[in-house]
Amino acid sequence: MSKTIAISTGGGDAPGLNAVIRSVVLSAHQRQWKCIGIRNGFNGILSPSEFARHGGGTLELTPDTVRGITHLGGTILGTTNKGNPLHFPIVHSDGTISEIDRTDEIISTFSSMGIDALISIGGDGSMEIAHVLAQKGLQVVGVPKTIDNDLEKTIATFGFETAVEFATNCIDRLHSTAEAHERVMIVEVMGRYAGWIALHSGIAGTADCILLPEIPYDINKVIQKIQEREHSGSHFSIIVIAEGALPKDGSVSVIGQSIGQAVRLGGAGEKLVKEIEHHIQKETRLVVLGHLQRGGMPTANDRLLALRFGASAVRAIADGHSDVMVALDPPHVNTVPLSEVTRRMKRVPIDSEIIQTARDIGISFGE
Ligand code: F6P
Repeated sequence: MSKTIAISTGGGDAPGLNAVIRSVVLSAHQRQWKCIGIRNGFNGILSPSEFARHGGGTLELTPDTVRGITHLGGTILGTTNKGNPLHFPIVHSDGTISEIDRTDEIISTFSSMGIDALISIGGDGSMEIAHVLAQKGLQVVGVPKTIDNDLEKTIATFGFETAVEFATNCIDRLHSTAEAHERVMIVEVMGRYAGWIALHSGIAGTADCILLPEIPYDINKVIQKIQEREHSGSHFSIIVIAEGALPKDGSVSVIGQSIGQAVRLGGAGEKLVKEIEHHIQKETRLVVLGHLQRGGMPTANDRLLALRFGASAVRAIADGHSDVMVALDPPHVNTVPLSEVTRRMKRVPIDSEIIQTARDIGISFGE
């Protein structure tokens, strides 16, 4: 039976989004289905007037519109972390702001546009929206995306490997300059409340200390590691700190929060520079990798995972599944209920083999 499916990309972008879009569109085309892309998450539907300069908030996606995009970062649909339809911000005439649930509007607009199903590509926030829409009767399949790798029920999300590859490259480059100047170099990486990027890039880049949100650090132990290296003749140290890392008896460093948006993390590295320089006389410099980790081309593995997720999502729709997310369970891509994904977070298990490996090769977690 012919179908029309909508595709949306929500939350922070991740390398591989375009590969998913292309895979969905080509797989749907093989079945003679039509694809409609929604611009900037669901904003293309909820605030269509904002997209006049793009010719509207939605666009038909054909094999022609997705040609040559597999290797490109970003998303041809645009994305946003503002305008969550479950908590949509409304500014009142007196300047006050409140949040309303606009998911019913999405369902009715889809129905008037003849859309039968939705493929929602995103992180935890997008999966929650997808779950609510599915509960309201829309056929929905989620596709997990995030450089943070913190989504439950999938071994990996695309974008993570690309971010780790980039961060590792940066750590590699910092070794020679850290050694030349006999400095402590701190590298702050993204990941929100999960330490996956810090852990993987820190081990691969042979950092001396890795500070994770999952293991609050003791500054004395960090200093001890730097001093041990000094005594052994290595007059420089590399510390990788996750943006969500926190000192023992301290808190996560936060920049702020705007209405309808997630808390913005930042400042963990800066705090650590001050703490180290307070304890020892050692020049300490900070590099915050920030959004560089989200940009650029996806690695071959991330492209492959994204293409597999896109095609699997279309197969799931063809098989009549709804309220599910496609997930990597090597060697398979399966579907898992969205209810088992939302409102949870996959953090680094502190008793894992990879943490033990780091300890075995002398990396300190500041504990
Ligand atoms: O979730 C992906 C991510 O890059 C996090 O690692 C980071 O904390 C956040 O998004 C940054 O979001 P924004 O681009 O909105 O500042």
